[in-house]
Amino acid sequence: MKTKIIKINFKNPETSKIKEAANIIKKGGLVAFPTETVYGLGANGLDKKAVKKIFLVKGRPQDNPLILHISEIKQMHSLVNEIPNNAKKLIKKFWPGPLTIILKKTKIVPGMVTCGLDAVAIRMPDNKIALELIKYAGVPIAAPSANISGRPSPTNAKHVAEDLMDNIDMLIDGGNTTIGIESTVIDLTQNPPVILRPGKITQKQIEKIIGKLQDKKEERIIIPKCPGMKYKHYSPKAKVIIIKDRKEIKKICKKYSEKKIKQLNYTDKIKMAKNLFKDFREADKKGYDIIVVKEVEDKGFGCAIMNRLRKASSTKENSKDDTC
Ligand code: TXA
Ligand code: MG
Repeated sequence: MKTKIIKINFKNPETSKIKEAANIIKKGGLVAFPTETVYGLGANGLDKKAVKKIFLVKGRPQDNPLILHISEIKQMHSLVNEIPNNAKKLIKKFWPGPLTIILKKTKIVPGMVTCGLDAVAIRMPDNKIALELIKYAGVPIAAPSANISGRPSPTNAKHVAEDLMDNIDMLIDGGNTTIGIESTVIDLTQNPPVILRPGKITQKQIEKIIGKLQDKKEERIIIPKCPGMKYKHYSPKAKVIIIKDRKEIKKICKKYSEKKIKQLNYTDKIKMAKNLFKDFREADKKGYDIIVVKEVEDKGFGCAIMNRLRKASSTKENSKDDTC
């Protein structure tokens, strides 16, 4: 299969190009597209054959469910049994945006999307290309990040091509994504709700709208509910070492004197999130053995960044404990 790459203007998407991409989705094909967080690998979320292709192409474990992306709130009604008040409030405040909510699903949602779970993850992305694509496809679009499973999520079209070229029907190049790490995932099927994956929208921002969430300590116990969490994610080929203080670099250079070491430095969390996955990929291309990154405070948006860093640096022994 040859992947067709098309450039679309992210501020003012050309309708003819969007329609071409939407037709591929309607016919059961795969289209990679930009969102505000990372690029997604989209298929018709109501077509189980199309959804199955996503798992095959990504090499994604069959027990890691997908997010359905919608462009209008009314699409929710056929996908979930009930939209509880806390969901309504979060939707009003944060959609379109980097928040994924999990609610009990209807029969319409294929088990292939949720990996047999009775709840489905839904989000409305804040990106014009993504919203137009969903609108013209006329169906919710199932989309995980458009990378080979386990690799850093793609934040531009080049990254998607590196992983998936000629295995998908179309790749929409809509430039760099703005946030750079994946959406916050919140499970609203339990009370109090719980964040399964931290992202740009923080626990504090959410608690301001719907009250106290289940706190982190308890969250560690329920994490198996979010199957994706048990896999090592976001990993470059290089070994990632997180340091507390720049002074540790000397020691690392001494210990790994034979190795090629890349230090990543960032001035703030926003830039760090935006560039982290890109920098991981670049370090791999340049053949670095080790990537050294200084930790950020595990608070607010920093929680999401530390979660990705820990996963990238995790070994089998410590990954079980890494939930953030
Ligand atoms: O920002 C994002 O969320 C990006 C863009 C493309 O929208 N998507 C993304 O998808 O990161 P993915 O598949 O790479 O991550 C989805 C996460 C996984 O950790 C998965 O386990 C969890 O959401 N998830 C999806 N459906 C779930 C469900 N029904 N119950 C529990 N967790 C679920
Ligand atoms: Mg992913």
